[in-house]
Amino acid sequence: MNSKRLDFTIADVNEIYEGPVGKLWEMLMGEEIHVGGGRETEILAKKAGLNRDSNVLDVCSALGGPARHLAVKYGCRVTGLDATAKMVDEAAARTEREGLSHLIIFRPGNALDMPFHGDTFDTVWGQDAWCYVTDKEKLVREAYRVLKPAGVIAFTDWIQTGNMTDKEWIELNAFMAFPYMETLDGYEQILRETGFMMLEKEDLSSDFAHHCHLYQNKLRNELEDIVISKYGKEMYEAADSGLDKWVRAADEGKVGRCRIIGKKI
Ligand SMILES: C[S@@+](CC[C@H](N)C(=O)[O-])C[C@H]1O[C@@H](n2cnc3c(N)ncnc32)[C@H](O)[C@@H]1O
Repeated sequence: MNSKRLDFTIADVNEIYEGPVGKLWEMLMGEEIHVGGGRETEILAKKAGLNRDSNVLDVCSALGGPARHLAVKYGCRVTGLDATAKMVDEAAARTEREGLSHLIIFRPGNALDMPFHGDTFDTVWGQDAWCYVTDKEKLVREAYRVLKPAGVIAFTDWIQTGNMTDKEWIELNAFMAFPYMETLDGYEQILRETGFMMLEKEDLSSDFAHHCHLYQNKLRNELEDIVISKYGKEMYEAADSGLDKWVRAADEGKVGRCRIIGKKI
């Protein structure tokens, strides 16, 4: 499979999430900005074994929707880490408004250099965001370092599932500013080499393709007018054509999504 890496940096990610594209993702997916929303958060939480004693680190926490979901449902403490200042500030403001600041804090920072001491968290958590990170090995090593012994890594992510031409690969990843996507087996190898025991490894790619169609329909049937009036026709057309490429690639089995649970040993 291709593994060509594109030259995106954290500055590109910041530009996206400071601007209208970040808002567009919230319009499409809701404030839990991942495929499947709250339902998916519940599945991951059950598999990660969260409870009120859990100290969770959400890596790439964005607007903090999942952090608030977990704090309300499980009574656990959550720290959100995100590299985009605007997302950190917005997450903290929403959390304050919902009266959850006693359980949740947000810290600015890069997943590749987490601003936390070792052996701090029971769970390192991630949802549909690690595809933006430029070095998955280093990210997983950082997760391992900040986890307590026997701590759990639980995440979903967008993955590469089939071969693509260079042109397809570049168009898909460039639309999102992904430097590259990991494969399912690639993630397993990284976790094992880092020292995790694999507990679960699931390929959710057919559900991913189904959701790509749902998001495309929502953009076309519900959001077209509002996106054009707020951000202009050019932005709408760029989003529509970018999403269309993802719908096709997902239908053709070239991209998908995974859920992985591992344990620090
Ligand atoms: C798709 S959103 C994450 C959605 C969130 N996990 C959720 O489920 O609501 C992607 C987020 O990842 C953050 N991000 C991307 N690369 C990062 C990095 N290297 N370190 C920290 N945050 C990063 C972005 O700033 C953005 O807020």
